[in-house]
Amino acid sequence: MVLYFSATGNTRYIAEIIAKKLHDEALDLTDRIKRSDHSLIRSKKPFVVCCPIYICEMPVFFSQFLRKLKLAGNRKIYFVFTGGSSYEGTAGWRAGKIAARKHMTYMGCADVVMPRNYVASSHSFSNDEKEIHFLLENAVYESEKIANTIRYSRKLKARHVFIAEKALILPFVPLWVKYMQPSAPFHTTDKCIGCGKCAEVCPINNIEIKDKKPVWIAPCAHCMACICNCPAEAIEFGDITQNKVKYNIRKYLKK
Ligand SMILES: Cc1cc2nc3c(=O)[nH]c(=O)nc-3n(C[C@H](O)[C@H](O)[C@H](O)COP(=O)(O)O)c2cc1C
Repeated sequence: MVLYFSATGNTRYIAEIIAKKLHDEALDLTDRIKRSDHSLIRSKKPFVVCCPIYICEMPVFFSQFLRKLKLAGNRKIYFVFTGGSSYEGTAGWRAGKIAARKHMTYMGCADVVMPRNYVASSHSFSNDEKEIHFLLENAVYESEKIANTIRYSRKLKARHVFIAEKALILPFVPLWVKYMQPSAPFHTTDKCIGCGKCAEVCPINNIEIKDKKPVWIAPCAHCMACICNCPAEAIEFGDITQNKVKYNIRKYLKK
């Protein structure tokens, strides 16, 4: 079974391609994460866990959820990451730790480079349309290659994570999450139609709807689900996002 979390659609895209190739099911974990539902998931086929890379790591809320999630049936587990670059940092190491904790056989990990979705920083640059189309085409090829490896029960090549990387990344991530991902700059413009989609897609229930308008409550995962899934494009982050395209894979997939 292919399990995934995806804020702006990249990881869902990859998970669905892999599941299709494996004649397996792709299960979106967002609702379970929202409800802290760690109840048993059973699969005859190997588990394939797909998630985006955040700050050179697995998203913190996702790895915390996964550690507690009960998996039964097949004891093999693969991980597939999507990121805006091919550097997955310590995520592969984290995956191995989670597999060991579950007494499962870690079958390695792979990463697929996808369009960048992080818009809430003046230092982050989005891909242009041409790059996005190239990356999405390449992603199909990469995902099918990954699925073939899984189909033949071969291991995915997990890159060795050096001690220096762990020393740099692991203490840095919680600090970044705590101090560099504020909720306060998120706000709606008068385009807001009060549909509540933002609250629905927030994986950590960080948005409350009051008087038909969203209110962001700290802490925030900065996953970009709210701002990039808003049907009215009515959400901004301070004045950083005003002239930025809010990435969502839906805009680029053929109907
Ligand atoms: C908070 C945040 C941090 C990110 N950090 C990284 C990173 O360190 N390295 C990287 O390659 N991509 C990074 N990205 C880009 C996403 O991993 C990438 O766009 C991913 O495919 C998004 O997946 P999704 O559409 O399934 O949510 C980051 C995105 C967000 C929202």
